[in-house]
Amino acid sequence: MAERVIPLVDQRHAALPAGVPERAIPATGSLSDSLGRPLRDLRISVTDRCNFRCSYCMPKEVFDKDYPYLPHSALLTFEEITRVVRQFVAHGVRKIRLTGGEPLLRKNVEVLVEQLARLRTVDGAPLDLTLTTNGSLLARKARALKDAGLQRVTVSLDGLDDAVFRRMNDVDFPVADVLKGIDAARSAGLGPVKINMVVKRGTNEHEILPMARHFKGTDIVLRFIEYMDVGATNGWRMDEVMPSAEVVKLIHAELPLAQLEASAPGETAERWGYADGTGEIGVISSVTQAFCGDCNRARLSTEGQLYLCLFASRGHDLRSLIRGDAAKGTPPASDEELASAIGQIWQGRSDRYSQLRATLAPDQGGGARRVEMSYIGG
Ligand code: GTP
Ligand code: 5AD
Ligand code: SF4
Ligand code: SF4
Repeated sequence: MAERVIPLVDQRHAALPAGVPERAIPATGSLSDSLGRPLRDLRISVTDRCNFRCSYCMPKEVFDKDYPYLPHSALLTFEEITRVVRQFVAHGVRKIRLTGGEPLLRKNVEVLVEQLARLRTVDGAPLDLTLTTNGSLLARKARALKDAGLQRVTVSLDGLDDAVFRRMNDVDFPVADVLKGIDAARSAGLGPVKINMVVKRGTNEHEILPMARHFKGTDIVLRFIEYMDVGATNGWRMDEVMPSAEVVKLIHAELPLAQLEASAPGETAERWGYADGTGEIGVISSVTQAFCGDCNRARLSTEGQLYLCLFASRGHDLRSLIRGDAAKGTPPASDEELASAIGQIWQGRSDRYSQLRATLAPDQGGGARRVEMSYIGG
């Protein structure tokens, strides 16, 4: 295992500058990128730390005790996050997902939830406010998150078998505690709860059917995710990817399925319903069936860099605009300037990595230089 891990190349500090355009780009709620894709979904990483060491995300060999996590002063404060999110929302964002690392490790994260829950979309509706967690702290925090205004949660769970689960999180964390967290989220009303299972061939594909049986007939939506070549440290190989079509076939043979309509344009998951009407599953096929065509997702890193694609190697430095840049003598940007800068960056976006995966040369982002998922969030 260890010999396949590729040394980390730190891209975090090589941010692209974010400038304020000379002609203002006012936030009208209808921004489009260079491929005509709107901006609807913002994922915010609130910490680059995690208490798990899933090998496909934060392999122990790289994320060890010497790993240079971001210092606290580099993180955007809750007030800074809320201020910048307000500009994203004015540009048309409707869905906010807090991620990490493990977002529940960020101290008082419910205070941020409370601030974000007060924002309204351009149509005056509340935001779809959600959070992705590994579930380890959920039993303790579900109620406070709900009270702060969080609407729902997605929990990562790669198997039900305790030994498999402990091996995959690589910190010997018991599956029973995550299941308690999921129950706490349901009881607190943080639904519909979704479960994300990354399928790695040779590691947990035998957990697909037990997971499907376990969650069938509940109000929980289980989604199977193709193991992706995200980041630069997980030693990804195509032969460890189990195509979603195979997952669907395997489940369908025992528990018949029929395809459902997508819930909204640009969604990641293809939906399948159980033929007997007892719920649904989803498959996320970013390797075998890229969904970049209508990708409306932006990502804000823990230190305030704006990433236009999960597979980008560089982000745009919004923090220097938010705080001002003493070295350049520039003062903090006004809200209008911040909105214009975001508008200009999104208008210039042409990223569609998953679609191009097969044809990219290493120096175009297809090689080992991409940013880590634990840094920009899933
Ligand atoms: P819902 O709104 O709850 O349906 O969430 P979602 O599917 O938009 O987000 P979620 O974070 O649950 O996504 C599930 C997984 O899909 C992530 O953990 C990633 O593995 C993958 N994923 C999400 N967004 C993207 C994306 O833009 N590109 C690619 N390639 N994969 C993505
Ligand atoms: N491939 C697919 N999904 C991944 N995640 C992290 N790393 C990968 C990867 N290499 C996703 C999982 C996890 C979320 C936090 O990020 O869905 O649940
Ligand atoms: Fe942590 Fe989630 Fe990454 Fe696992 S996948 S190491 S739980 S951030
Ligand atoms: Fe969007 Fe990039 Fe994912 Fe394609 S690979 S769906 S462009 S984030």
